[in-house]
Amino acid sequence: MCGIVGYIGERDCTDVLISSLSKLEYRGYDSAGIAVFENGEIEVQKAKGELKNLSEKLKTDHYPEGHCGIGHTRWATHGEPSDINSHPHSGKRVSIVHNGIIENYKDLKKFLTSKGYTFESETDTETVAKLLDYYYEGDPVDAIIKVLGDVRGAYALGIIFKDFPDRIFAVRKDSPLIIGVGDDENFIASDVPAILQYTKKHYLLEENEIATIHSDRVEFCDIHKTNIEKEVIVSDLDMDAAEKGGYEHFMLKEIHEQPNAVNTTITPRIVNGMPDLSECGIDLEDLKNYRKIFIVACGTAMHAGVVGKYVIEKLARTEVTVDIASEFRYRNPILTPDDLMIVISQSGETADTKAALHLAHDMGSKVLAIVNVKGSSIAREADMVLYTHAGPEISVASTKAFSVQMSVMYLLAFEMAYAKGIIDEEECKRLTEELTTIPDAIDKAMECEEKCKYVASKLVTAHSLLYIGRGLDYALSMEGSLKLKEISYIHSESYAAGELKHGTISLVEKGLPVISVATQNALLEKTVSNIEEVKSRGAFTITVAKEGEEFAEGINDELITVPALDDILMPMVTVIPLQLLAYYTTVLKGLNVDKPRNLAKSVTVE
Ligand code: M6R
Repeated sequence: MCGIVGYIGERDCTDVLISSLSKLEYRGYDSAGIAVFENGEIEVQKAKGELKNLSEKLKTDHYPEGHCGIGHTRWATHGEPSDINSHPHSGKRVSIVHNGIIENYKDLKKFLTSKGYTFESETDTETVAKLLDYYYEGDPVDAIIKVLGDVRGAYALGIIFKDFPDRIFAVRKDSPLIIGVGDDENFIASDVPAILQYTKKHYLLEENEIATIHSDRVEFCDIHKTNIEKEVIVSDLDMDAAEKGGYEHFMLKEIHEQPNAVNTTITPRIVNGMPDLSECGIDLEDLKNYRKIFIVACGTAMHAGVVGKYVIEKLARTEVTVDIASEFRYRNPILTPDDLMIVISQSGETADTKAALHLAHDMGSKVLAIVNVKGSSIAREADMVLYTHAGPEISVASTKAFSVQMSVMYLLAFEMAYAKGIIDEEECKRLTEELTTIPDAIDKAMECEEKCKYVASKLVTAHSLLYIGRGLDYALSMEGSLKLKEISYIHSESYAAGELKHGTISLVEKGLPVISVATQNALLEKTVSNIEEVKSRGAFTITVAKEGEEFAEGINDELITVPALDDILMPMVTVIPLQLLAYYTTVLKGLNVDKPRNLAKSVTVE
């Protein structure tokens, strides 16, 4: 989604803005722009397409020389990607960058048009720029407060006023924004990686707080202009974590980071061989008593939730439903104070997931958030937070976040099962011990990389694929299919293998690749029958199975094996070939692995 940056200080502002925007490219965007004070005037430059187009334009057109300005990468919502629709947008005395959606922009536009304003772009954002202009009577904060009273929707705004070349203003609601703190220089940014090269210190801007950012200080107030004191946070991210570190793509680096990410996530939560989630405020008594668990998330995080459902229901015998957040929020769910909602999110900013959290709170349920980004909105709003320690995930395709999300679902399931007396201490320790072997097992699973590269060469020309599996293998099929389609643009569907006969098998024809995930001993015979069914109809069969598994001659055109673990833990290694297949197919197709078309890393709008 859109990325916001801003800088005020002694450095070359244009240079800082471009460099900071480059660190936000991973969020997904289709145009970029900056507005910089130069000799008292606001100079705006924008360009459709990649950031390099804007850099080129700065060379050939005009390079604003100044020390205060704002910048933006836009992910189009209202109006196509174009130079004109790119941010910043301006009024006569103001320029702004915006992340989010202004829901009532049509009404505002009508009002402003009646006041004589004209509009250049098709964006919702331009109405905010013009509205600020309309209300501005010499005090920027007054104008901002009036605008906040009129706009509906989600926003993070970076604002500069022509009369105040020595400051930046910022405000947010439902979209993230931080204020970076340096020595005689300050920043604004959507995300910490944008400013990590300059400073690790930042403030988190809360809902409807207004920040006035000078080079040597930052002032905060609320919408009644009451001053607010805030604490500086020091990020524990390091620059290297946000660099490719010798890998060709972030996705490949992040796939290989999984052993370490899982290790870092689980190790502090194992005490004397037992899972211990007390750090996030989870109470064993409560765990025993929840009537029902609702897991709500989007995309890959939702697939980690499906794994969680299987594992919690199997071990702890508590009913779990898993919902796609955008469906959950509108389906009138029945939640009670006796239920627990678990929201899972890498970014902690996903709009629909956040809305589900609000719904749970409205209905009196407690919310446990499993989140990777520290201090993100979801983490701050939930009742309990279990941080995953994957480090920054830059590639749009989520890989290491999935593994760490699953790993905490296991700890939770073990702890719940023990708290409920369904497993005894010995069994709980045995399962926990096996979980600690996962980082090594993932490392070992990476040995299938060459094989995956080879199998990927057989997939590049495919127009469509099926992924099938049963139980936990079905959850993994969903994840494998999402990974492949989002980056390789090859259509694929995941199906519960037993459901094929109810319609989908009619799609199977000679050469259709069918990837079967077949790691669950108890379901293996049944899945094998499904593989036979598609094979006999001409499918090109690729099977992911446990090492040492025997299959009938000729049933698998390609067999990819992963280390054999307890069935319940197999998803932790099975995901590796699925990620690698998607990765290498995309590389072989010559596509942009880390920034697939139309997608954003952090989906902060509905
Ligand atoms: O930040 P979140 O975990 O809430 O994001 C959820 C999805 O948008 C995300 O997992 C998405 O599906 C990924 N691109 C999948 O690789």
